[in-house]
Amino acid sequence: MSEESVYPVPAAYAGHTLMNETGYFELYNRSVEDNEGFWREQGRRLDWIKPYTRVKDTSFARDDLHIRWYQDGTLNVAANCLDRHLAEHGDSTAILWVGDEPGVSREISYRELHRDVCRFANGLKSLGVRKGDVVTIYMPMIPEAAVAMLACARIGAVHSVVFAGFSPEALAGRMDDGRSRTVITANAGVRGGRSTALKDNVDRAVDLCRETSVEQVVVVNYTSDKVRWHDGRDCDYGELVAGQSDDCPAEEMNAEDPLFILYTSGSTGKPKGVLHTGGGYLTYVSLTHEYVFDYRRGERYWCAADIGWVTGHSYIIYGPLANGATTVMYEGVPNYPDVTRVAQIIDEHQIEILYIAPTAIRALMAEGDKPTAGASLESLRLLGTVGEPINPQAWQWYHQSFGRGRCPIVDTWWQTETGGAMLTPLPGATTLKPGSATRPFFGVRPALVDNEGNILEGAAEGNLVLLDSWPGQMRTVFGDHQRFVDTYFSTFDGMYFSGDGARRDADGYYWITGRVDDVLNVSGHRMGTAELESALVAHEAVAEAAVVGVPHELKGQGIYVYVTLNSGLEPGEAMRRELRNWLRNEIGPIATPEVIQWAAGLPKTRSGKIMRRILRKIAADEYDQLGDISTLADPSVVQQLIDERASLA
Ligand code: WT7
Repeated sequence: MSEESVYPVPAAYAGHTLMNETGYFELYNRSVEDNEGFWREQGRRLDWIKPYTRVKDTSFARDDLHIRWYQDGTLNVAANCLDRHLAEHGDSTAILWVGDEPGVSREISYRELHRDVCRFANGLKSLGVRKGDVVTIYMPMIPEAAVAMLACARIGAVHSVVFAGFSPEALAGRMDDGRSRTVITANAGVRGGRSTALKDNVDRAVDLCRETSVEQVVVVNYTSDKVRWHDGRDCDYGELVAGQSDDCPAEEMNAEDPLFILYTSGSTGKPKGVLHTGGGYLTYVSLTHEYVFDYRRGERYWCAADIGWVTGHSYIIYGPLANGATTVMYEGVPNYPDVTRVAQIIDEHQIEILYIAPTAIRALMAEGDKPTAGASLESLRLLGTVGEPINPQAWQWYHQSFGRGRCPIVDTWWQTETGGAMLTPLPGATTLKPGSATRPFFGVRPALVDNEGNILEGAAEGNLVLLDSWPGQMRTVFGDHQRFVDTYFSTFDGMYFSGDGARRDADGYYWITGRVDDVLNVSGHRMGTAELESALVAHEAVAEAAVVGVPHELKGQGIYVYVTLNSGLEPGEAMRRELRNWLRNEIGPIATPEVIQWAAGLPKTRSGKIMRRILRKIAADEYDQLGDISTLADPSVVQQLIDERASLA
C-alpha cells in the first residue's frame, strides 16, 4: 500500500465476516463480468409475489434513457420488511426507539410494528388514499414516522418525506410538486429539548400550496401542545387507527412501481423529486446493509440520521428491516443534554454498529476526550460515516475515541440518487485508509473522466462517473424525465455523472474531493446555490445575489452570500438580520448563512455569467489565487469586493 497510515482488517475480524479480501475481489469481478447474472441471484434475497424473469433493462444513452430492474416481478416492500420475519423472528426487536430525554426508550417487535403498520394502512385507505397517490410525511423521529412510510408502501401509496427542519415554504413547494393531497405530521416534534410546531408549519404550507389542494392532514398528537384544528380536514392519528383491523393485505406491486419520492438540491432550479421504485431499490439497500455493516441478526445497529434524508430511508428503515435487523431510531441530537449522549446510548443499549455523519464527529471532536471518556463502548464492533468527505484527523479521532482503536470505519460514498452505498470498504475485506471511501461495491463500475469525458486510467484525479446501472439507481425526476436526462447524463455521453470530483490512488482507492458543481454540502445537507440565490432575489430589497461555499471547521462548508441591494437601500446590520431570517423562513434553519457580504457589483463575464470561482477565492481569503480576471466585464469590482471582505474579517 502506498499511503503511510493504513489500517488492515483487525485480527479479531479474520474468518468471522461475510467477506474477506480474496472473496471481495472474486465476487466483485464476477459482479461486473456477469452483471445480470449477479443481480439475478441477489434479487432472490427478497420475497416476490410473482418472480421476475427479466433482470436488467437499462440504457444510459441520452436519447433512450431508461432504467428498469426485475421489471416483470411483483412484490410488496412492506411485506418484505415485516411479514416475512414474523414466523421465526416476530418477537425480536425491529425498532429500538431512543427518545430525546435520557432514559426514555421503547422496543417495538416485528410483530408489533406489523400490527401498527396494518392498522395505519387501513386507516389511510379509509381516508381514500389509493395506490399511486403521493403522501407527504413531515414528522419528527418517532416510531409513527416509520409506521407511516411502511403503511404507504403496504398500500402502494408513494411517500414523500420532507425533513421536519424545512420551513412551510419549502414544504409547500414539495407538496405542490408531488400534487400531494395527504399529509402526515405530528402536533410538534422535540429535539435537543426544544419543541418545533410542526402542525402549525403544515397549516401554513397548506395555505401556500398553489398546485395541489390538501384534503387531509393526519396528526400524531405526540406532545401536550394544543394545535388549531380544521374539522373535515384534520384527522387524529390515534382515533384513526383505534378502530382499524390488524389485517391489511399487502398490495401486489410491480417491481418498477414508485416506492418514494425524495427531494434533493442540484446546481440549478428547484429541488428535484428523486424517484425510487420498489424491487431494485430494496434488493440494493438490503444487500448493501448486510455486507457493508457485516450485519448479523440480533445485533443492534444505529444509523444516526434523520428519516428526512435518504440515509434514513435506506439505512434506518428499508435496508435494516428487509434484513430483519434491530434498527435504532434516535429522536434527538448528538450533544443533548451534553456531549456524552452518543456514548451513553451505545452503552445503555449495547449497540454494536454506529453509522454517523462526519459533521457530528467533528462537533464531538471539538470537545476532546469528553464525549467518550467515561464510557465503556465495549459493545461496539464497527463504525461508519456518510454524507461528506471525512478529514483524516476526524477519522483518527473517531477510530480512537469511539472505536477504541479496534473498530474498523466504513466510509460510504453515495447519494440520494444512488439509493445505497456505492464506494465503501467491507469490514472483513478492506484495508482502510483514513479519508478514503476505498473501492466499489459489488456490481458498481466507477470511473474518473476529464472535463471532455475521456476515461482516465490508473492513479488520476477527475470527475466521478458511473458506467453502468445498479438496481438502487433513481429512475427519474418525478414529473420531469427530461430533467433527469439533462442533469445526470448530458455532461458525459453514456455515463451517470455524480457531480463529485475524486482522486484514485495507485492502489485503486477512491478519495472524494467534493462537489465540482454549484452544490454545497453544509453539515452533510445538500443545498443548491441557485436555490439559495433565487430565495434571496425574491426579497424586495435584493437586486442580485451570488452564493458560494466556504470551508468551515465543523460544518465542512458554510454558506457565504454576496448581495447587491436595490439602490437607495441601507446596507447594515438590520438588513443582514432581515436577509438571514428571510433565508431561514424560505428554506429552513440549515440555510442560515455564515456571512453576508454587500457587493456594489458582482464579477461577471462579458456575457453576464457570474464567475463564482473568483467569489469562492475572495470568501476564502485567497486573494492571490484569483486566476485570470481580464475576461471580466468590469475587473474593478474585484478590488472592491476584496476591500469589503477585508473590512468584514
Ligand atoms: C453528496 C450526496 C449519501 C447519503 C447522504 C448524502 C457527498 C456523501 C460521502 C462520503 C465524501 C460524500 C457527495 C455526494 N458525500 N457521502 N462518504 N465521502 N462525500 O446524500 O444529500 O444526496 O448528498 O454527499 O458530495 O455527492 P446527498
